Amino acid sequence: MKFNIAIDGPAGAGKSTIAKLIAKKKSYIYVDTGAMYRAMALYFLEEGIRADEPDKISEASKKVDITIQYENGEQIVLLNGRNVNGLIRTEEVGNMASASSVNKDVREKLVELQRALAAKENVVMDGRDIGTTVLPNANVKIYLTASSKVRAKRRYEELMAKGERCNLDEIEKDIIDRDYRDMHRDISPLKQAEDAILLDSSEMTIEEVADAVIALCDKVGSK
Ligand code: DC
Repeated sequence: MKFNIAIDGPAGAGKSTIAKLIAKKKSYIYVDTGAMYRAMALYFLEEGIRADEPDKISEASKKVDITIQYENGEQIVLLNGRNVNGLIRTEEVGNMASASSVNKDVREKLVELQRALAAKENVVMDGRDIGTTVLPNANVKIYLTASSKVRAKRRYEELMAKGERCNLDEIEKDIIDRDYRDMHRDISPLKQAEDAILLDSSEMTIEEVADAVIALCDKVGSK
């Protein structure tokens, strides 16, 4: 049996930073499921499909092949064989990923890929529906959140560091809209699994959150 850690939560809560750190400390594989939804979204954008065209999204999702590779511990997402890591981190792709991830065909395809990875490896997997739907039997489930103000400020600083012009209030509005959509969709909405532990990272450092998760893993006998 593989050891599976599920980390869910809203955009900008620090899931990927924490998940990567835990994966490194425990020599587990980090699976970024958001990147898979982003790669799908990139395909739809490249095909000129809009978020309000569900039939086209369903049809196009059948032509998309998403696979994952690891290079020096980093997850590489391949979209129809092409490495798209450098193209999926924009706000445009993030918003399209949130909008197109409401689609049943999109979700079915990616959930299958995610389950196959978790069955094969010890994983730290982050996303929105990992503890509730993808890995309901995960050994440790975390629901990681932070206030929308703190999340917007983190994203703002990230974008500024990359030299991108941005506006803090617009980022916070985007985050609130994205949370609403992710939490209110029909299929696998973002919510805390009943057996997940709630961690609020607003006032915690990355190390403090990671240590708290590792302590929970040790408690249930992780390797
Ligand atoms: O975590 P992220 O910002 O990279 O995710 C982008 C979008 O993908 C997010 O707004 C909703 C969707 N997503 C999802 O529906 N289920 C997941 N497990 C991961 C992401």
